[in-house]
This record gives sequence, structure tokens and C-alpha cells, in this order.
Amino acid sequence: MTSTTASPTAITRFLTGITTSGTPHLGNYVGSIRPSVRASQAADVESYYFLADYHALIKIDDPARIQRSTLEIAASWLAAGLDPERVVFYRQSDVPEIPELTWFLTCVTGKGMLNRAHAYKAAVDKNAAVGQDPDMDVNAGLFMYPVLMGADILIFNAHKVPVGRDQVQHIEMARDMASSFNHRYGEHFVPPQAVIEESVATLPGLDGRKMSKSYDNTIPLFAPREQLKKLIAGIVTDSRAPGEAKDTEGSALFQIYQAFASEAETQALRQAFADGIAWGDAKKILFERIDREVAPMRETYESLINNPAKLEAILLAGAAKARKIATPFMGTLRQAVGLRNLADGQVTAKTKIVKAAVATFKQYREKDGQFYFKLVNAQGDVVLQSKGFESPKVAGQTIAQLQQQGLAALTTLASALEPLDSTSQKAVEMALAELAND
Ligand code: TRP
Repeated sequence: MTSTTASPTAITRFLTGITTSGTPHLGNYVGSIRPSVRASQAADVESYYFLADYHALIKIDDPARIQRSTLEIAASWLAAGLDPERVVFYRQSDVPEIPELTWFLTCVTGKGMLNRAHAYKAAVDKNAAVGQDPDMDVNAGLFMYPVLMGADILIFNAHKVPVGRDQVQHIEMARDMASSFNHRYGEHFVPPQAVIEESVATLPGLDGRKMSKSYDNTIPLFAPREQLKKLIAGIVTDSRAPGEAKDTEGSALFQIYQAFASEAETQALRQAFADGIAWGDAKKILFERIDREVAPMRETYESLINNPAKLEAILLAGAAKARKIATPFMGTLRQAVGLRNLADGQVTAKTKIVKAAVATFKQYREKDGQFYFKLVNAQGDVVLQSKGFESPKVAGQTIAQLQQQGLAALTTLASALEPLDSTSQKAVEMALAELAND
């Protein structure tokens, strides 16, 4: 089996991407950026983090927004401590092997499987529910989303893919694509595994629902201090007055605090809730706690945002690192599927012909009304000739006996066969061996 990067090693490759469709918020930080940066610092791991800007094109047709989001997300990761020397940090669209592999995978992916992908299915079901054409406003990019994601993962043969629950199906599909490809072309891909961070709580947003762009309830990670304070002041609370005990259960404010605070700090706020802290004071505590963690990063963030050329250079260097792996691997895959140098192809074509023309038994009926067979070797020479049989059934049984018993059957069957000299006996032996190997 030919395989360059699929060989098992002690190093575990982690890979994750972020779609460049918006401004990073506290939920992204707690759920993805912070744990990924921490994971990348562990020994024995190789991390691939990238900006999924091809994925962004599926839902965003505002070029300025794509560019801005790419800038903001790249700056956020670096500000949060991602070390581009240590990890492979790149932009998806700088690695042309990814769309190329997407096509290879497209051709081994069942359309039926893609029909069942949650995001596509949800869009179709939504149309159907209101009596519209199921595919109204559904672009083929949404349909192909899992294949592009499969290529993201498989181009580096990542072992582990940290994702949210909503992405698990996509990893399953990537596994499926890997095995379909391997089945046809040899063991090139490692089936990836989803890593779901159970311990990472999904952060509630301003209105208490999950913090998400689609609910418009986010707090940008690097909002300036004053804006951060204002946004935090807007987090929903109940109407309990100062002095009344407050519930921590179901409190968005408390949950956000918990995602930033230590055990002891969390315990202290729990006590303050029980003691009837005023909501205004609790918000102040939350603001100060978040700002303490974010302020030092905010400075780096702002300097990066104001120096896009530097960010661009970092991403291009990352892409060069990524392509050191992707380019030769893609070369192997092109070879595997048959997109080859034509001069190399001649050698293979010859092998193919030899393989195609194995020895065969040929059955036929002569003018005398009797049934005959002959054994023809790969070169087309008749190496064994039968005498005539009364019925095709007996001719067939004789062939079966030769196939099962090989040379040993020649003596038993001597009377049914034309005589052989010693050289032709050797030829029969070879032809029978060829048949057995086929
Ligand atoms: N689909 C992911 C998301 O929306 C982003 C993504 C694209 C990704 N390609 C990936 C994540 C490959 C992990 C691995 O969050």
C-alpha cells in the first residue's frame, strides 16, 4: 500500500477550522479559541488551525465582510496565544490542494449521504414546510459543505477534530469518504475522530439563549472596554430587587462568569447571589472578571488588526508549511486515481494487459456433435486439448476436476485428454497455477 502521511506515529494530529463569517464573540472564545490554544501547547500534538473562508462563501456574499472576518478571526487566535511557529495556522483558500481533494472525494461520496446532511436537510425541510420548492434558495455549496470539510481534514490525515455537537455528523461523513477512497485506491487516509469537549459549556448570550450570531445576542470578544461594559449591562436578569436572594440556576450572568472564573471566584459569586447581591453589582463583577482576562489580549488584537500586512505574512507562511505536506500528498493521490504522467502510464498499461489475459478454459461443440474444451494460456497458446464428450455437463465436470486437483488430475483423466509431452505438461502446470491465482 502506498501511503505518505497515513503511517501511524506517536504524534496526534489535531485539526479544526473556523468559518470566516463573523466577528469572534465570547462564546467562540470559551468554546473553541481558548481550548484549542491550550491544546496546541501540549507535547505530542501537531495542530492544524485554519480559517475556513471557502466555507464562508456558502452563506456570505458580502466580500468586505469575508475579508474583515478573516482579519478579525486570525487576529483573535494570535491574540489568544496561538503560536504560529508551533502550529500550522493557515487560510483554507491558500491551499489549492483542498479544493482539488474536494473533487476526488466528491467522486467517491454517495449523493444520498449528502441528502441526509443536517444543514442541507434543514434548509430543504424548511422550504417544504411552507409549501415551497424544496431546493428554493439552497445553493450547491451548502449541499457540498461536508465534502469540502472532509477534504480539510483528510488532506492532512488529522486524527482528532475538536468540534461542537452540530459538526459530529460531518466527521462521520469524512470517515465514510476516507474509507470509500481507501477501498478503491489503497490505504491513503486515516479515518478521523470527532473530539467533543463535553466540559466546555455553551455560553449563553445576552438574551439567555445560546450565544450565537444567528440570535444576534453576542458579546464580541474584543469589544472595546466601554462597549463591553455596556453590553454586559444588557444581559437579561429577573426582576429581583437588591437584598433578595438570586438563583444561580438559569442565570446567564452566572454561567458566563463561571466560564471565566476560578472555582473560588465562582463560589464567592454563588454566595453573593444567595446574599441578595444587586444585579448591577453582579454585572460589574462579571465585567471586571472578563476584562481582566481579555484586556492584555485586546492590546495584541488591536495592534494586529491595525497591521494587516503582518497578519497576511503570517498566514502565507502558514500556508507554505501546510503545502509542504499537502502538495506531495496530493501528488500521491493523483497517481493513485490515475491522473498520471503519460510516459509512466505505458508501464502500467502493459501490466494491466498481462493481468487481464490470464489462462482460460474454453468450451465448444464440434461438427461431430461432441463437446470439447481446451486450456489456453495467457499468451494465447493451447496447452491442453480434450477429446470429445457426450454432454457439456461431463466436459464441465472434467474442467472442474482439473481446476480443483491440478496436475494430479492429468493421470486420472488421461483417457479423456489428448496426449501431452513433457514440455506441454509444464505449460499446463503454469496455466493451471495462473488460474488458481486469479
Ligand atoms: N464547519 C465548521 C464550523 O462551522 C468549520 C470547519 C470547516 C471545520 N472545515 C472544518 C471544522 C474542518 C473542523 C474541521 O464550525
